[in-house]
Amino acid sequence: MDQLLVKNIGTIVGIERQGRLRLKGAEMDRMERLDNAWLLVTDGRIESFGSMDDFPCVPSAKTVDARGGMLFPSFCDSHTHLVYAGSREQEFLDKIHGLSYEEIARRGGGILNSADRLHETSEDELYRQAMERINEIMMMGTGAVEIKSGYGLSTEDELKMLRVIRRIKETSPLEVRSTFLGAHAVARKYKGRQKEYVDLICEEMIPRVAAEKLADFVDVFCDEGFFTVEETARIMEVGAKYGMIPKIHANELAVSGGVQVGVAHHALSVDHLERMGEEEIRVLTESETMPTMLPGAAFFLGMSYPPARDMIAAGLSVALASDYNPGSSPSGNMRMVMALASFRMKMTPTEALHAATLNGAYAMGLSKDFGSISEGKVANFFITKPMRSFEFFSYAYQTPLVKRIFLRGKEYKKA
Ligand code: NIG
Ligand code: FE
Repeated sequence: MDQLLVKNIGTIVGIERQGRLRLKGAEMDRMERLDNAWLLVTDGRIESFGSMDDFPCVPSAKTVDARGGMLFPSFCDSHTHLVYAGSREQEFLDKIHGLSYEEIARRGGGILNSADRLHETSEDELYRQAMERINEIMMMGTGAVEIKSGYGLSTEDELKMLRVIRRIKETSPLEVRSTFLGAHAVARKYKGRQKEYVDLICEEMIPRVAAEKLADFVDVFCDEGFFTVEETARIMEVGAKYGMIPKIHANELAVSGGVQVGVAHHALSVDHLERMGEEEIRVLTESETMPTMLPGAAFFLGMSYPPARDMIAAGLSVALASDYNPGSSPSGNMRMVMALASFRMKMTPTEALHAATLNGAYAMGLSKDFGSISEGKVANFFITKPMRSFEFFSYAYQTPLVKRIFLRGKEYKKA
């Protein structure tokens, strides 16, 4: 038996004792905390926690002194594209000089640019670059992550990307979920023949991906200039036949109908949501689908932010994710995402933490085992420097406060 006992914790935050798989509406702003606490880990899971007034005697456990720092559940980042080759700072300059994300895409840049680079890059090199990003997010407090394909856009290159994601799953201490996103953009070779590209996705890519069991989820970029509602429905239906649950890119560039079609096909999440109307919110209130917001993308592209307050007021649960990718969010910093949610979408730090942990875990189908400090859950947490309040974590958003990282009860040190 492998045991770890953390003592002198200033405050444990993100405690969930009722076994709720996601928090909704007003629940999101309520959080159980425990001051002056200890936490015991057995074989990688949280065994128990309590007050230092009743400190347990566990002679076999290795002891860690939190020195008054706070203990947080690790972030659960439910939307990333962190396997990619190289970077796209040329487009960043184009944007500074006035081009929009859509214009860059129309000129053949954007996602197609990343697809060209990925094609030329070996699987080993892709893995090496992605693992640098994995280590980066891990050291910023992320403990579970979803990663999408979608820079392959041919059967062989989509498989190559998904094999890299599988290798990350097998070798990294993070919990990883993988998503097939062949419908990220129409491949260069299929320009003007979108229907044929969708046929290729449905008839060749999905069956091959499923045969190698490479994807947990299927995604479509359902938006103006990308894939239509009908194409999205078709891809989700074929994906579902092969056991892939949908998670959809929706309503980033336009009121695309993506939310409705996602909900109608029982998507686990619909993501982005910069363009939302009342009808989109209403449809979500009657569903099991997690609306997921990616404020890092709105920040980087200078777009409007999703109406988080309206969604929470309507009783919805919401999640926050980084969208880590080379074109619209070259950062996987979940603490910054939390801070942006507070600065720009008026979410309280408590709501933002729940959105970035338990509700993010739900959006990956992981919230039974991840996303909160609860007995029996996987021991993924980090310890901060002592802070005068929980709110200080979002307020002092650039101060390096994350001090010690534990995944499955094992400590990982910064290199
Ligand atoms: O989530 N919106 C679509 N896909 C990504 C961006 C991909 C890229 O530009 O490389 C996103 O923002
Ligand atoms: Fe995305």
